[in-house]
Formats: sequence, C-alpha cells, structure tokens
Amino acid sequence: MARPLALVTGASRGIGLELAHQFARHGHDLVVNAEDTAIDDAAKALREHGVEVLAVQADLGTEAGVAQLAGAVPRPLDAAALNAGVGLGGTFLDSPVAEQLRLVDVDVRGVVHLAHLVLSDMRARGRGKLLLTSSIASTMPGPGQPVYNAAKSFVQSLAEALADELRGTGVTVTSLMPGPTNTDFFRRAGLEGTLIARSAVDDPAKVAAQGYAALEKGRTTVVGGSPMVKAQALVNGLLPDQVKAAAHRVFTTTLPRS
Ligand SMILES: NC(=O)c1ccc[n+]([C@@H]2O[C@H](COP(=O)([O-])OP(=O)(O)OC[C@H]3O[C@@H](n4cnc5c(N)ncnc54)[C@H](OP(=O)(O)O)[C@@H]3O)[C@@H](O)[C@H]2O)c1
Repeated sequence: MARPLALVTGASRGIGLELAHQFARHGHDLVVNAEDTAIDDAAKALREHGVEVLAVQADLGTEAGVAQLAGAVPRPLDAAALNAGVGLGGTFLDSPVAEQLRLVDVDVRGVVHLAHLVLSDMRARGRGKLLLTSSIASTMPGPGQPVYNAAKSFVQSLAEALADELRGTGVTVTSLMPGPTNTDFFRRAGLEGTLIARSAVDDPAKVAAQGYAALEKGRTTVVGGSPMVKAQALVNGLLPDQVKAAAHRVFTTTLPRS
C-alpha cells in the first residue's frame, strides 16, 4: 500500500518545516516547497523519517510557480498545508508598494490559486484535508503591518467559507491561526526590535503539532500557541477594532535598544 501523500508549502523553515515533520512522523510521503534552495536541506532532514520526499523550488507569488508546483505533484494528495507566507513591517505609506503587492501575490493570490487546484482534485476524489496557515493577525486591523493583517483576514475568511462549502464532500478545510511564533518571520519582515517580534516566543514545533492535530480531526479553526495566545484570540472576538488597532500600533513600533 502506498503511503498517503501530503504537500507542504513554505516547508524550508519555521512552522512549515515543523508541519512537514508532523506529516512525515505520521507516515506521509511528502512534496515540500519553498522559494530557495534551503528546501533541499529540509527534504534531506525529512527523509530521516523513512518516507519519500520530493522537494520543489518554486515561487508561489507567481502563477507560473504555482503551476510548476501543482504539476510536480506525482499522485493524488491526501492532505495539503498551504503555509508559505511573508510579512512586511512598516506603515502603509512608508512601505514600498511593490513589496506590499508582492505580499498580496504570495499570501493571497498564491493561496487562492493553489487551494483551487488542490481542492478541485480532492472534491473530485471525495476525500482530502487542507490546512491554510492564517494568523491571529487576522482578528485585528494591523497598523505597522496593515497589508499583512488584511491578507491574513482574507485567508481566514476564505478558509472558513471553504470549510462550509465543502461540508459533506469528504474534504475538510482547517485554518491554523498561530500567535507570535519564534521563527525567522519577523526578522525577514523588517520588524526586528518591535514588541511583536520580542513577544514571538511560541515554539513552531508546538504550533505545527496543534495544526496537524486539528487537521486530522477536520476542525475548522485552531489557534496555535500558548494558552496566552488562545486567550488573546478569545478577547479579540470581543474588543472593538479601534482598540485592537491602537494596541497593534504599539506592538509594531520599534523599541529603543535595551
Ligand atoms: N512566525 C509567526 O509569528 C507567525 C504568526 C502567525 C502566522 N504565521 C504564518 O505562518 C506561515 C509560516 O511563517 P513562519 O513563521 O514559519 O515564517 P518563515 O520562517 O519566514 O518561513 C516562511 C516560509 O515560507 C516560504 N516562502 C516565502 N515566500 C515564498 C514564496 N514566494 N514561494 C514559496 N515559498 C515561500 C519560505 O521559503 P523561502 O525561505 O525559500 O522564501 C519559508 O519556507 C506564514 O504564512 C506566516 O504568515 C507566522
């Protein structure tokens, strides 16, 4: 019997690499993707679990990259985690619009395109599990990284709508909403030295384990991280957006060096 096959995007590091380890530990062969060559090292480490791993280097911020990745998948997918994403610190008018559009290409357009391809196939087969990495950022307006929070609100809304549309088809859609997690994300987003970056202490392995467990159970949404983050998600459901925006502005302001 062939092992089940899972696709993980953004699997070269951080939460995506840990999601890929979860799938491998649970006996899945893998197709793993990232934009640069570090994906080959990740694939080598994942093969230690005794599963087959195909590494595909492709830029999911382009239609060609999404098509390249989808075309490389060797057999029907049992599960997919669309996790690749980028952040971008800075206020709207003080960040280059090209970088903001790039974020939309990767975090929104790439997710819509790949989810459409993956889910079309899963629905036709009457089974499959899709995980979308959203964020607790989806629950609040994001002064200091406004396009990122808007993109994650889009992903969260999309995931919940797809979970509903596909109910009863044998296909489940789960959104993983991590809180600030200890990965390269904030450094790469230019948010080093902010309170939000300093609060990024959750372990990506733990966040991924929570995401994987929720995917397995076919849950619609899981908040990934510590009890504090789960409490914050609950409180965010009650607070007015203006209050959350003001707090977010403080968290994305660069602090004086201590
Ligand atoms: N860390 C947090 O606090 C946090 C909180 C909530 C949600 N998230 C979300 O969690 C996901 C993973 O983030 P992370 O913290 O693990 O960040 P990370 O360590 O920076 O990893 C990001 C991954 O996405 C890949 N990626 C970025 N752009 C890509 C592109 N154009 N095409 C293909 N792959 C691309 C990266 O590959 P390359 O290195 O090759 O570019 C890398 O593998 C993201 O969707 C992020 O928005 C993170």
